[in-house]
Amino acid sequence: MSKGIKIVTIGGGSSYTPELVEGFIKRYDELPVRELWLVDIEAGKEKLEIVGAMAKRMVKAAGVDCEVHLTLDRREALKDADFVTTQLRVGLLDARILDERIPLSHGLIGQETNGAGGIFKALRTVPVILDIVEDMKELCPNAWLINFTNPAGMVTEAVLRYGNWDKVVGLCNIPVNAVFEEAALLGENNRDLFFQFAGINHLHWHTITDKNGKDRTDELIKVMYGQDDAKSIVANIKDNNLIWEQVENLHMVPCPYHNYYYYTDKMLAEELEDFKNNGTRAEKVKEIEHELFELYKDPNLDYKPKQLAERGGARYSDAACEIINSIHNDKRTTMTVSTRNNGTITDLPAESAVEVTCTITGKGPVPYNFGSFKPQERGLLQVMKSMEELTIEAAVTGDYGTLLQAFTMNPLITSGDVAKEVMDELLEAHKQYLPAFFKEGK
Ligand code: G6P
Repeated sequence: MSKGIKIVTIGGGSSYTPELVEGFIKRYDELPVRELWLVDIEAGKEKLEIVGAMAKRMVKAAGVDCEVHLTLDRREALKDADFVTTQLRVGLLDARILDERIPLSHGLIGQETNGAGGIFKALRTVPVILDIVEDMKELCPNAWLINFTNPAGMVTEAVLRYGNWDKVVGLCNIPVNAVFEEAALLGENNRDLFFQFAGINHLHWHTITDKNGKDRTDELIKVMYGQDDAKSIVANIKDNNLIWEQVENLHMVPCPYHNYYYYTDKMLAEELEDFKNNGTRAEKVKEIEHELFELYKDPNLDYKPKQLAERGGARYSDAACEIINSIHNDKRTTMTVSTRNNGTITDLPAESAVEVTCTITGKGPVPYNFGSFKPQERGLLQVMKSMEELTIEAAVTGDYGTLLQAFTMNPLITSGDVAKEVMDELLEAHKQYLPAFFKEGK
């Protein structure tokens, strides 16, 4: 029997954990995970215990030889890990509520990965991830870090640039969902299609080629956007009604988050309407989470409930299991992940994290070469990448001026006084999670 694998999941008390456990169970023959350590913090203890007990039931029901450990001691867990996955949320959902409410109350998009909210999620998360990397250097120097904490691209880039840690893969479910949903729209099996994605997390475009080498991109664009009611491929973005003439002209399929940039006014109007009537997405997610944890408490529940699909991040964890499987077994699976650019996209710095189609080998992701974008994609992409670089730098240095540059550059944030007002309000609201900005003497 081959040596068992040790996985450590930081943010293990998340409602997504059952999908991760299911993913390991179904791959057990190829990927014998013998130890799964679910790590959380004091504030997440209750959730950790509930979802941890459910994970234990799932493993038992599946009859696999895997010990599930629950702990609040991250360093104890990390010792000799083979893979570390990060799905943490600094400040929990209450911090996300502020990321969404504060910009919305000033008439700006309030979203957890884009705009002002996304910037602040990065500011809170980057220092914590860099601490985890320091622990990994000491306790599990050969391990891979698979990050799906948002904003996944910026977090990955921070690890590469400031953590000096190469064994990191950033993961998002948007490309994963696209492969499944769009193959179905073309009436094809996804295994018979090649999707080439290029861009950055939540701002990428892709093409599709079938097994006969025929480019099917324009056909898909027509199916998706050539009608009034285009369907979104993620639960947290309701509509996908981009302007037909514009999408047609791209000859590449945009991702659902392009709605925020190509249709800012409409997305904002929808968000404001929801905000007025039902509160923000974060508040809705809190309700879904509450229901999920009530289900997880059931001592007879030993499988992932279907209600988990109401969360926007469905399929994330399963994809994480597949990456781990592919690295461990050098399976060379084709997947789209955030990784170091290294010239894959010539329009972006070599050391940036980019989200591109890769072969996942035993040595990690090897990107398919992409080249350069046309101006219709390149402009926005370069602005957003520069904005990300400034945000990451601000997260590390705590420099107010650098952060203000990121704010005023972001296309979803009005410039000038509004930018500064929203930024100051968010800084104050998240003070306890931003020690770099509030050090003595600053
Ligand atoms: C997506 C994104 C994720 C995001 C999630 C939000 O599809 O790719 O990055 O975390 O949705 O889902 P939620 O249910 O938390 O709003």
